[in-house]
Amino acid sequence: MEKSKKNPKHIAIIMDGNGRWAKARELPRIEGHRAGAKTVKEIVTAAREMGIKYLTLYAFSSENWKRPKPEVNGLFRLLIEYCENELDTMLKNGISFNVIGEWGKLPNNTRKVLRNTMGETEKGKKMRLTLALNYSARKEILIAVSNILKDNVKRISEKGFIKRLFTYDMPDPDLIIRTSGELRLSNFLLWQAAYSEFFFTKTLWPDFSKDEFSKIIEDFAGRERRYGGI
Ligand code: IPE
Ligand code: IPE
Ligand code: MG
Repeated sequence: MEKSKKNPKHIAIIMDGNGRWAKARELPRIEGHRAGAKTVKEIVTAAREMGIKYLTLYAFSSENWKRPKPEVNGLFRLLIEYCENELDTMLKNGISFNVIGEWGKLPNNTRKVLRNTMGETEKGKKMRLTLALNYSARKEILIAVSNILKDNVKRISEKGFIKRLFTYDMPDPDLIIRTSGELRLSNFLLWQAAYSEFFFTKTLWPDFSKDEFSKIIEDFAGRERRYGGI
């Protein structure tokens, strides 16, 4: 895997297909999520090695609360395990861990681990790893609007709006990848995706690999981004 000037600065991934991966193996859905967590490790490493500066992973949407309680709790348990097991690796590799979404509404113990991981890794300079947790892009926009009203702002610029989003200190994603063959955004980064490039793959998230990731990045490097120009 190579670092290249044409590599995207910010990649966002909609990690989908864990449930179907488990179903195909007659395993409980949580085993799909466990396998998905392994893929997260592999892709975080690959992104860092390629010099990607921002990697944002959609891990739990605000709509995912509709799932059965045991699955939701299992996801938070895996999240805690991930943070605890990966802390040393993140510190060693200069990764700063970050969360977007209404994570203040997650269970107490989950919040505590997230806060600790963010605090411990805050000086990491190589790559920012962001998890979207209890994230809804529409809600993010509404929260920004509410804050604008609260601040009594009479005129709003794009810049003024952007600084009130969860992603206020990140560039927009250059590339958004979704696994599992679904062709939708599912309420992810609606504002920020205005000029993102998209890549959809049928691969289920637990089967997604470093190799496929690097092929997608190669494909991205060959695209021409015009931003409305000619
Ligand atoms: C993605 O996999 C993980 C989360 C949404 C938490 P899914 O659990 O949505 O897997 P499928 O779509 O049912 O296969
Ligand atoms: C999107 O996947 C959310 C995450 C990957 C966390 P879903 O599986 O929840 O999306 P839909 O329901 O298929 O749109
Ligand atoms: Mg899904």
